[in-house]
Amino acid sequence: MAKVTFFRGEQIPLEMHKVRIVQKLNLPPVEERLRHITEAGNNTFLLQNRDVFMDMLTDSGVNAMSDNQLSAMMQADDSYAGSETFNRLEAKLREIFGMEYFLPAHQGRACENILATAFVKSGDVVPMNFHFTTTKSHITRMGGRVEELVIQEGLNPVSSHPFKGNFDVSRLDALIQEVGPEHIPFVRLEAGTNLIGGQPFSLQNAREVCALCRRYGIKTVLDASLLQDNLYFIKQREAECRDMSIREITLALAELMDIIYFSARKLGFARGGGICIRDEAVCLSLKEYIPLYEGFLTYGGMSVREMEAIAVGLEETMDEDIISQGPIFIEYMVDELVKRGIPVITPAGGLGCHLNAMEFVPHIPQSEYPAGALAAAMYLAGGVRGMERGTLSEQREPDGSERFAEMELLRLAMPRRVFTLSQVKYAIDRIDWLYQNRALIGGLKFVEEPAVLRFFFGRLAPTSPWQEKLAAQFRADFGDSL
Ligand code: F0G
Repeated sequence: MAKVTFFRGEQIPLEMHKVRIVQKLNLPPVEERLRHITEAGNNTFLLQNRDVFMDMLTDSGVNAMSDNQLSAMMQADDSYAGSETFNRLEAKLREIFGMEYFLPAHQGRACENILATAFVKSGDVVPMNFHFTTTKSHITRMGGRVEELVIQEGLNPVSSHPFKGNFDVSRLDALIQEVGPEHIPFVRLEAGTNLIGGQPFSLQNAREVCALCRRYGIKTVLDASLLQDNLYFIKQREAECRDMSIREITLALAELMDIIYFSARKLGFARGGGICIRDEAVCLSLKEYIPLYEGFLTYGGMSVREMEAIAVGLEETMDEDIISQGPIFIEYMVDELVKRGIPVITPAGGLGCHLNAMEFVPHIPQSEYPAGALAAAMYLAGGVRGMERGTLSEQREPDGSERFAEMELLRLAMPRRVFTLSQVKYAIDRIDWLYQNRALIGGLKFVEEPAVLRFFFGRLAPTSPWQEKLAAQFRADFGDSL
């Protein structure tokens, strides 16, 4: 990916790839969008993809694959045990992370299940820069508690801090002293911190966190699911790393860790996941769970084709031209929204563009899920499917009260190499329209609320007939246009 300057001054992202396979899209008119979002219980997870124009729900498992990945998939060595495909993936991981052992798993949360099951006991505390939904659920399931120690700046929606995903190292030190290292099974560092807007940590910060953990004899675990964006930001924003290659930065970071796990639905442009481990003894304590929960040790629930795609995708992740595509597109979108005065998380991170619902719809109280309401409104406005990352994505407290999220975000994920710049411009335009009409957006209330991970399949209703009014305004403003 490159940023080019046009003859007349405009700077745009320029794709360093060409499209060779396409999928036809459908953009239903606003009246149909109103029906679809109502039928989906105002939960964008419950929309049908055929009714969605731009699917910005996630970048998980939906990144475009390369010609080299597809051709490698045809050469997979199909075997339950001891396939050459597994050996190739294991060798690639050893090469880029420098860790001896690899345990395959079917996706990222499966790794979290295994790490929590093996290491977390009731009463334990797991410090991390910020939680991820599935991570937290697995730790609390085992009776553990998550402590989030991201720097203050990380929770500031508008900032120029280059590394908002950094750990607050002095708070980590204080926490370790308070609860005692024996109650901390591991410290988790999340690359490209998902829930605060895909924000990176610096190599320097990781060095400090890991040095502290080593002093106390606490294991360090890197969640590398969003590592590709974080690597790019380290190279771009950390002066010390400007002359290092992506491969060198990867090794320098990996050297600090005891364990690295990842969702290959994100890292490696494929599907699947796994856990890389430095020490044999640690590997042995996790190994037995793989055949129990995932599959035999040489596939862990993944198809051989996916494992081939991951091996090639990991190699491609070492190419700055490839991994810059997401961040540069996201930066373009964020800059254009900022120019229009629309509240969005800054600086631009990885993963996607994050609208700040607290400011976009300040008239909606957190008890009526402003980010969820904005997600439903965004679909109405343009057939664009985003994901709520706010109070709806939290779990209620044990006493049943709401746990209000620190941030109310509508995430518009940017799957890598999937959308064209004109589609991104379309999304920006419909967000702009929605912002001008934000007073029409109202709140949501649950009509069906699951006890666990409620954001996936809960159903909600508008607190007033605001959606009909928004759809009517759309028709008035856009006439026959979709
Ligand atoms: N860790 C991080 C940082 C993630 O972003 C995800 C998934 C996981 C772990 C779990 O991995 O989905 O393969 O089981 N994030 C997806 C998302 C779901 O849409 O952000 P998984």
